[in-house]
Amino acid sequence: MKKVLVTGGAGYIGSHTVIELCNDDFIPVIVDNFSNTDDRILDGLHQLLGYSPELYRVDCTDYNALKAVFSTERPDAVIHFAAFKAVGESTALPLKYYSNNIESLLVVLRLMEEFNISDLVFSSSCTVYGQPEKLPVDESCPPQPATSPYGYSKQVCERIITDACAARPALKCALLRYFNPIGAHPSALIGELPFGIPNNLVPYITQTAIGIRSQLTIHGSDYQTPDGTCIRDYIHVCDLASAHVKALRWLENQSAVCEAFNLGQGLGNSVKEVVDTFVRVNESALPVVMGPRRPGDVEQVWADVSKANEQLQWKTERSLEQALKDAWKWEKHLQQAGVKS
Ligand code: WQD
Repeated sequence: MKKVLVTGGAGYIGSHTVIELCNDDFIPVIVDNFSNTDDRILDGLHQLLGYSPELYRVDCTDYNALKAVFSTERPDAVIHFAAFKAVGESTALPLKYYSNNIESLLVVLRLMEEFNISDLVFSSSCTVYGQPEKLPVDESCPPQPATSPYGYSKQVCERIITDACAARPALKCALLRYFNPIGAHPSALIGELPFGIPNNLVPYITQTAIGIRSQLTIHGSDYQTPDGTCIRDYIHVCDLASAHVKALRWLENQSAVCEAFNLGQGLGNSVKEVVDTFVRVNESALPVVMGPRRPGDVEQVWADVSKANEQLQWKTERSLEQALKDAWKWEKHLQQAGVKS
């Protein structure tokens, strides 16, 4: 059984990946500083797994603290999620984003070399593409100038990993470029925890539907798209999680590799389509107003996922409808649990 260090493993995508790792006989070890999650996720993991994975409340920028974890656990591989990820917030707090997202990766890479660990799965983002010139976007598309410090931190991290792999052939990495993760585990025992006003569309929709927010503002209705609203590629978080396990299995059969993979549905849905689908599948009212464009938004982006389909033997199994049902079930679970946003 292979032991996998999961940094950010108590977070949204990290916790769903911990479930999938256990389902495939890996042993996850969670490292998280709990800056963007809390113990409710640990309770959900315990209920789903029947046990509590090893957990270290450590900040990944803290070399000595993380070194102690590597020394104790001696992992066989690392999945590095730990990063700040709010596009809008990153514009307001660029130094926070650059120091945390880049320094944590440098510490992880340094320790992987010191402990002779070769396999790294890195949480990257479709934001590295900016506004692609060609759609669907594939991994060969040249990165465009990032439209936010968050996106640029991911571009810098990809370059750091690429250079590290070139200098240390033993290092093998899968760079997973997420499109728009949405939804929650169908059990509603884990999901995206709301801290403050949501930046992302789907948690804002569910909080509006349940009455926490008074209305949803659609940011921009004058884009060059069929209905005037932005288009994105929305992927169920459970499908995204399973891709990380597939990437680890893929790395087992590779040598000296550093490859990027798009992880999305492989199709685009507009903001209005997401709103209309949510209302339809959940039979829920949703007060919506049209507002101005949001700075930093790209007009439309969706993925060509053929490389991940073929090389990782991975494909999505859940629809937009299913993700929106699971997102709503999670929001209702939070309300029943008395969670304040
Ligand atoms: C989607 C669309 C908004 C809120 C996300 C993640 C980022 C990266 C890429 C992983 C946009 C519109 C939103 C609202 C709205 N993923 N919207 N009203 O900006 O594509 O970025 O995916 O790395 O980390 O943040 O996602 O959900 O913020 O916005 O109209 O109240 O919904 O303008 O067009 P985005 P998002």
